[in-house]
Amino acid sequence: MSQEDIASRAERLRQLLEYHNYRYYVLDDPEISDAEYDALFRELQDLERRHPELRVPHSPTQRIGAEPSEAFSHRSHSLPMSSLDNVFDLTEWDSYVERLQRMLPGESFSFWVDPKLDGLAVEVIYEGGNYTAACTRGDGYTGEEVTRNMATLRNLPLRIPVRGETKQDVPDYLEVRGEVIMSLSDFHMLNKQQEEQGRRVFANPRNAAAGSVRQLDPGITASRPLRFFAYGVGLVRWPDGTDRWLTQEQIIHGLSGLGLSIVPGARLCGDAEEVKNYFRHLESGGLNLAFEADGVVAKVNSLDQQDRLGSTARAPRWAMAIKFLAEQAETELKRIQVQVGRTGTLTPVALLEPVSVGGVTVSRATLHNQDEIRAKDLRIGDRVVVQRAGDVIPEVVRPLPEKRTGEEQEFRFPGQCPSCGGRVDRLPGEVAYRCLNSSCPAQLKQALIHFVSKSGLDIEGLGNKWIEALVDGGYVQDFADLFHLRKQQLVQMERMGDKLAENILRAMERAREQADLQRLISALGIRLVGWETARVLASYFRDLDQVQAASEQELQEIPDIGPEIAASIRSYFANPANKRMLEKLKQAGLWPGSEESGSPLEGSGPLQGKRLIFTGRLDNLTRNRARELAEAAGGKVVGSVSGKLDYIVAGEEPGSKLDRAREVGATILDEDQFLRLVQEQAS
Ligand code: IVH
Repeated sequence: MSQEDIASRAERLRQLLEYHNYRYYVLDDPEISDAEYDALFRELQDLERRHPELRVPHSPTQRIGAEPSEAFSHRSHSLPMSSLDNVFDLTEWDSYVERLQRMLPGESFSFWVDPKLDGLAVEVIYEGGNYTAACTRGDGYTGEEVTRNMATLRNLPLRIPVRGETKQDVPDYLEVRGEVIMSLSDFHMLNKQQEEQGRRVFANPRNAAAGSVRQLDPGITASRPLRFFAYGVGLVRWPDGTDRWLTQEQIIHGLSGLGLSIVPGARLCGDAEEVKNYFRHLESGGLNLAFEADGVVAKVNSLDQQDRLGSTARAPRWAMAIKFLAEQAETELKRIQVQVGRTGTLTPVALLEPVSVGGVTVSRATLHNQDEIRAKDLRIGDRVVVQRAGDVIPEVVRPLPEKRTGEEQEFRFPGQCPSCGGRVDRLPGEVAYRCLNSSCPAQLKQALIHFVSKSGLDIEGLGNKWIEALVDGGYVQDFADLFHLRKQQLVQMERMGDKLAENILRAMERAREQADLQRLISALGIRLVGWETARVLASYFRDLDQVQAASEQELQEIPDIGPEIAASIRSYFANPANKRMLEKLKQAGLWPGSEESGSPLEGSGPLQGKRLIFTGRLDNLTRNRARELAEAAGGKVVGSVSGKLDYIVAGEEPGSKLDRAREVGATILDEDQFLRLVQEQAS
């Protein structure tokens, strides 16, 4: 390349990187994969290394992120939230360690390692132990203020220390840095919901987490299953002005001791070799993480060494991300099939020539919607690159147009429902097409599949193929019909024996007896009402009659229920077909009352509709007195920890319930906090 070509390539790379940066950080809507972005970034870094005259202050290699969006108010970080440098294999890691040794000759290094979580970087601020603000990373200097949204994350303590934790001093001022993430399974559930509702689906858990935090309506954030995991600190001020934390390990243990969740699987490695073993272990799935990790972050453990190593404009020299290889493969896009979801949404699915991607055979991948097919310019017959992002979700990354033969065909979205032949249309504001026929059998099947699934009534044995057969055979036209099935009918179906029929009927009976209100609400498949929102509704209402009677206004008064969700609930219950079906369910005996005695809506205590549990020894209260206070404040004291638990009050020497409660994301209170909370109503 001539000098001129090199300069113009560098400029082109800068433009491309700026653009993709913006798509990623500002719009939460990237067009290229991380691996592709990294490749561009490295190419530019490389050019600049070889031609230092090309290094200009506005180059993306010289800064940290992109501008925060205009929608939120901005807030500066007291210390910049820098980025991380990457290496892509262990040989590169060795070279990095050699560099460290050259920078601090004769010294040895231990490393704090943790999985690199793929979410949204956020800084959370505590003043005098109180949560006062949260701010996204933004461009590293200024981020978006997301204080209210972050407060809805159930594993984020709003006061520290959370008592029951090790007693230690609390900083007067503390900036905790960490990642907001969504687990893979929650991500899949959310996307399924979004897809069915014709809304934007998220390309990966990271975008889902980022999109959920950066919501103007905190109610929507609250309905999303998000968690915050701390990996470090910004500015910290201790009461006596001294520094208490001298290593990364002490920081993390300190944060954990204050009650924050730290990145799961983090630990100390005695030397660089141990880091490599940790990396291999994590890469091969050895840590069994529920969260998507895209590598390992290794940080020099000693803060003194960190200080002396310092930072470049972009990233600290004392930390390095070792990234996992993105698993990609090439195959043929053979066909695009259109599936009908439970709310009628038509979803295109790529049928691929089966190909092994990182050891797993991939033959299908969702294409989400027509816009996506168009944006990627995918044609039937194309050679395509497929990728398993974060190990699990196969996606079609892009076509390989240079391999086209001219035989490839553009995909035409069907004008009719592939199941019932009914009319399809695109609703205003939605990206997806829907089948408008509300008695479309494909929709009914999907609705029933959801109804009996784990996020519904959890009826075992009633698999998808039986549901299809029941609908096709005309036995079932709505949810309620399931409860009127008789053995004589079931055994008439092909391959259905006596035993199986009995098992199914028994499972139905069990579901009828055991389903609680949350399950039933979630099973109905109301738009925007998933498992979490069903939990909230079930803790506010005694039964479906009450939910049905609630006005949009009343619904909106419930924390975490925003205007959109409220409108969706109202429109569900206003629909005559739904009303008829619900009446049938009631007659069939499936009409659970929520567990609370008396409707919390009628009371008005600060613990209204909340479940709580006590563990450990309380200083000033007997358990009975504590229970009375809780109940007087509208709360319900429960016996065991479940996902529905809202608060755990931890006294001295708390039991294992505290750990469980933390896992399920309950808010942890000490005795004083509990007393203050229940006394809110007295004052
Ligand atoms: S430490 C200066 N640890 O990765 C070091 N970062 O690519 C600051 N990230 O902005 C980061 N998991 O949002 C650290 N275990 C982890 C992380 C982690 C994810 C993110 C973080 C950072 C980005 C840089």
